[in-house]
Amino acid sequence: MPHRLSQRAGRTAVIGFVLIALLALAGTASGTTTPDAPTTAEYVVSGADTLAARNAVAAQGAVINAAEHGVLDVTATPREVDRLRALGYRVERRVTAAARVAPEPAGRPGDFPPQDSGYHNYPEMTAAIDRIMAEHPSLVSQRVIGQSYEGRDIVALKVSDHPGADEDEPEVLFTHQQHAREHLTVEMALYTLRMLTGSYGDDQRVTNLVDDREIWIVPTLNPDGSQYDIATGSYRAWRKNRQPNAGSRAVGTDLNRNWAYRWGCCHGSSGAPGSDAYRGSAPESAPEVARVADFVRSRVVDGQQQITMAIDFHTYSELVLWPFGHTSKDTGPGMTAENAAVFQTLGKQLARTNGYTPMQASDLYVTDGTIDDWLWGDQGVYAFTFEMFPGAGGLSGFYPGDEVIDRETSRNREAVLRVLSYADCPQRVIGEGC
Ligand code: ARG
Ligand code: ZN
Repeated sequence: MPHRLSQRAGRTAVIGFVLIALLALAGTASGTTTPDAPTTAEYVVSGADTLAARNAVAAQGAVINAAEHGVLDVTATPREVDRLRALGYRVERRVTAAARVAPEPAGRPGDFPPQDSGYHNYPEMTAAIDRIMAEHPSLVSQRVIGQSYEGRDIVALKVSDHPGADEDEPEVLFTHQQHAREHLTVEMALYTLRMLTGSYGDDQRVTNLVDDREIWIVPTLNPDGSQYDIATGSYRAWRKNRQPNAGSRAVGTDLNRNWAYRWGCCHGSSGAPGSDAYRGSAPESAPEVARVADFVRSRVVDGQQQITMAIDFHTYSELVLWPFGHTSKDTGPGMTAENAAVFQTLGKQLARTNGYTPMQASDLYVTDGTIDDWLWGDQGVYAFTFEMFPGAGGLSGFYPGDEVIDRETSRNREAVLRVLSYADCPQRVIGEGC
């Protein structure tokens, strides 16, 4: 573990964070205060009103956290900021959100602050899953599909009748928390697990879907980053994994830029280890991505990928996104007009159930190496990205209070069930047979 989990270390880190915020208020660049200080910081970019402008910003390696009315909320390194200014954008340090992101009082090291105790840290998540599995042994099984960089288990839960057998049923994949600070997505995984098992036998629709599907839930792809984010008892706004980078002091790969389909192709990720959108040294260089990709490939039976549909959960912005992210074109190699019609029709339908905004991923900004480009382009899986609550905000948008958990996870109940029901024949959504 990179951090001593003592009270004193926790206190020192909290003080360090406050110091960074104060330095920022004084207009001083942060990043040199402590060895733990992030090399990236939060900025507001104005004048980026068009898709071309958002793509130009993303192409510099800055991560766009939110985009509203031409004002972007980005996480960027000082060099990326220089380049954005050189392009003519107005870039200002966002200090208010940075200060709010370290709430008082801090929690115990490795845990959420007391006012957010409803969130599950990694050990609590594991315990919650174990309890649900003990209550429903005939509906849930668990596979350890590998380990994170720091050695934590990455698990895939299977919900189905006869979860110990590989039945000939359409399979669906739900993935969560590629990005460390997006803790609400872990709660989404626990919600789906509880909803499917708890309503089984009571709710006919849920019962049929559990009987006739094999449902895979990977509740976190980034346990190391998640624990690092709360290691001091205050939030660090960490995004990447915790894998060191050769020749650099900067730690971490952006898992959602590391997937092996047109990796690094299109100015939708960064080659700089310090960037929050660092794509890694090679496709699947992050062990977490490699293990989940291996698991997905293992679901090919007799040359046929059993997984037909997927949702990858993120926060925030309240969006339903579909591939491709690496190109602004709606159709082209790997995406027929019929494929695009399925994505668009279903994406809009899902968005009507939860009130999110539907769009092709690249209409937000271009990214390369994302999971849903790989799931679709390489594996033929109809894969969506959901950006959960809230709709807008700065860094604090990643840290909604725990009182929103029930409302914002159950908000996706219908979308989850809708995806499960189309999994036998996604084309049905546009009236085509299978
Ligand atoms: N915000 C997420 C990320 O940065 C999802 C990106 C979705 N794809 C896209 N082309 N905008 O990984
Ligand atoms: Zn994310």
